[in-house]
Amino acid sequence: MTALTFSTVEPGDDQRWSTWPAITPSQRGPEPWPDWVVTSAGAIDTELGVVKTGKEADLYLIERFQPGLTPADPPVQSTILAAKRYRTLEHRDFHRSAEYQEGRRTRRSRDERAVAKGSSYGRSFAAGMWAFAEFEALSTMYAAGAPVPYPVQVDGTELLMEFIGEGTTAAPRLAQSREEPAGLRPLLDQIVEAMQLFARAGFVHGDLSPYNLLVHEGRVVVIDLPQIVDAIANPNGVGMLHRDCVNIADWFTRKRVEVDAEALFGELLAELY
Ligand SMILES: Nc1ncnc2c1ncn2[C@@H]1O[C@H](COP(=O)(O)OP(=O)(O)OP(=O)(O)O)[C@@H](O)[C@H]1O
Ligand SMILES: [Mg+2]
Repeated sequence: MTALTFSTVEPGDDQRWSTWPAITPSQRGPEPWPDWVVTSAGAIDTELGVVKTGKEADLYLIERFQPGLTPADPPVQSTILAAKRYRTLEHRDFHRSAEYQEGRRTRRSRDERAVAKGSSYGRSFAAGMWAFAEFEALSTMYAAGAPVPYPVQVDGTELLMEFIGEGTTAAPRLAQSREEPAGLRPLLDQIVEAMQLFARAGFVHGDLSPYNLLVHEGRVVVIDLPQIVDAIANPNGVGMLHRDCVNIADWFTRKRVEVDAEALFGELLAELY
């Protein structure tokens, strides 16, 4: 007789079966998958609550775990993930989209028309498009060695990624930093390095600010990438790079860490060509 090897644990309230087994390979993060990624078909996702509501998406925390054989057994593997869920209705600012969308094409014109009309199908398509765009941007920049959260998967309007923080507490944004200039200098160096990696890969973040940079154990992590643009193909690419440079330089200069935005811009432009 072989022993029972299937877990008898089933999802309860605030839980679901892990969505990993059902999605296609193109919806999963770059390989090799980090060892903390839970790939078991019997895994369960538990909702742990909302971290932050944003303009276009809300950030939730989930625990994905492979349960033990019975509810009394400890999980075989468990991980905390950030779930960024794009909004499909009302308050979303779709006008902002235009600037970033130039030079980018959706495959089906029916979808384009639906998005333009703002029908409910169009809204949910647009939300899914942004989630997928962010997933692809994270995948590309992760593969390029940039400090971004590892993108675990995308499924419709939900993007699951590495949670940056301690336990269930999210890492603070750079904007909240109380560091003195001497402590900020190494963070600036890391940001410039990250911007160089984006530029070398041919991309501009497009919304870089102290609100989209997390600081975790002295390391800077770049987040919020759905609007990433091709630096050359997008007619606004170079202008956006300039704006990112000004945002970063202004903030550090106010914190008494002198940075010349134009010098930084010139340095990054040189990486593009
Ligand atoms: N992977 C992550 N790990 C930990 N915290 C995160 C992660 N991703 C996002 N956050 C937190 O959630 C907030 C919102 O995320 P993000 O900036 O990607 O979304 P947004 O909808 O653009 O929000 P906003 O409108 O505030 O810019 C971030 O400022 C950060 O505090
Ligand atoms: Mg943001």
